[in-house]
Amino acid sequence: MTETAPMNETRTVTPARSLRGEITVPGDKSISHRSIMLGSLAQGTTRVRGFLHGEDNHATLNAFRAMGIVIDELPGGDLRIEGKGLHGLTEPGDVLDCGNSGTTIRLMTGLLSGQNFFSVLTGDRYLRKRPMKRVLAPLATMGARIWGRGGGELAPLAIHGGALKGTEYDSPISSAQVKSALLLAGLYAEGPTTVREPHLSRDHSERMLRYFGAEVRPFEGGVTVTPQPQLEGREVAVPGDISSAAFFMVAALIVPGAELLIRNVGVNPTRSGIIDILQAMGGSIERLNARELSGEPVADLLVRGSSLKGIEIGGAVVPRAIDEFPVISVAASFAEGTTIIRDARELRVKETDRIAAMVSELSALGGRVEARDDGMVIEGVESLTGGSVKSHGDHRIAMSMAVAALRARAEVTIDDTACTATSFPNFWSLLDNVRV
Ligand code: S3P
Repeated sequence: MTETAPMNETRTVTPARSLRGEITVPGDKSISHRSIMLGSLAQGTTRVRGFLHGEDNHATLNAFRAMGIVIDELPGGDLRIEGKGLHGLTEPGDVLDCGNSGTTIRLMTGLLSGQNFFSVLTGDRYLRKRPMKRVLAPLATMGARIWGRGGGELAPLAIHGGALKGTEYDSPISSAQVKSALLLAGLYAEGPTTVREPHLSRDHSERMLRYFGAEVRPFEGGVTVTPQPQLEGREVAVPGDISSAAFFMVAALIVPGAELLIRNVGVNPTRSGIIDILQAMGGSIERLNARELSGEPVADLLVRGSSLKGIEIGGAVVPRAIDEFPVISVAASFAEGTTIIRDARELRVKETDRIAAMVSELSALGGRVEARDDGMVIEGVESLTGGSVKSHGDHRIAMSMAVAALRARAEVTIDDTACTATSFPNFWSLLDNVRV
C-alpha cells in the first residue's frame, strides 16, 4: 500500500507479497515532446493519440501556445495541433519556462536559433544547473546567437534567432538532445547538417521528421538533415514509454512469483537497452504482438519474477538505456553477484546526479553500492531494510526507490514524490493496482 502525506508528498511504500495484472503505461515522453514541435512546424492539422500529459510535456505545449500555435486537448487526452508551417511561429511575449525538462530547453534552443525573433528560455532550479554549452557550442558554428549565464553554460538562455548555415558536428557525447537540437536548427539552415555521435542515441527525431516528410539520411555513425521547404501535418500515435515500463519490469522481476503484462510499449532499438540488460541478468521478459505505430516499433511485454545475476554493462547499450540506470541499480541490488556499470558518466548531469543519488539512497536501505566516476559497482543482497530515503526532486529516483521498497523487509518512506508527475502521473495508482 502507498499512502500520501499532504505536505511534501512523502509516501510510504510497504513490501509486496506479489504483483499480478495487465497494465498500460502512459505515452512516451520523448515522442510526445517531438509531436508538439513537429506538429506546430508542419502545414495543416496534426492529431496526437496517447500524448503524455506529464509536467515536462506540458512545458513544451505551453511554449508553443505562447508562440501562437493553437493546440486543443480533446476529450480522452488526444491533442489537435493546428500547424502554421516552418515560419509560422511568432515571438513569445514572455520568458518560456521549460520547468524540469532538459528535452524542452535543449531542442527548443536549436529550433529557436532558426526563428527570426528574440526568445528567452528558463527552467526550474534543477534545470538551471544543467549543462547547456553542449548545444550552444555546435549551434554557434551554424551562426546561432545565444547567451546564457556562466559564459553560456547555464539557463536562462537568450536567443536572437536568424540566418543559419549547415554544419558537420562530431559530438563527443551520445546525446539525443544535442543531436535533435542540431537537426531542428538544420531545417532552417543553408545547406545540409550532419551530426555524428560515438554510439547511436534515441532516434525519435529522425523517425518523426521523416514521418512528417523531411529528408533525413541516417548512416553508420551519424545522420544528415537537409533544409526543408515544408513539413506535412500527420496523425501520430504515441506508444507507451519504455522508460516508465522499466519500473514495472524491474518490479515484476524482483518480486517472487510476480507476473505482469505491460501492453503497448515502445521498443525502438535505440531505447530497448533495458530489455537486453535485464534479459542478460536472467530476467524473464517476452515480447508479444510486435507491430509498428507511426514509424515506431511497439510490443506487449510479459515479465515474470526471476532470479537475477550480476553482469557488466558498458559501451553501446548505455545510451540505449540511459534513463533506466536508477532502476537497473535496484535490479542489481537483488541480483546474485556483482554488477558493474561503466561508460555512464552522463548520469551525473541528469535531473540530478543519478550516480550519487542512487548510491546514497540504496545505501540508506542496506544496499551495497559504490560510486565510480562513470558508473556504479553493485553487490547483490538478499533484501533491503526499511527506512527513509530522498527523491532528490528527481522523478526516476523516486520511482526507483518505490520499486526497491517492494522487496524491502519493512516499509520505506520516500520524501518529495510530487516529482513523479514529470513523466508518470499515475505511477502510484498503477503500483497499487498490481499488488496482490
Ligand atoms: C532525451 C534524451 C536523453 C534522455 C532524456 C530524453 C530526449 O537525454 O536522458 O530523458 O528526449 O531526447 P540526453 O540527450 O542528455 O542523453
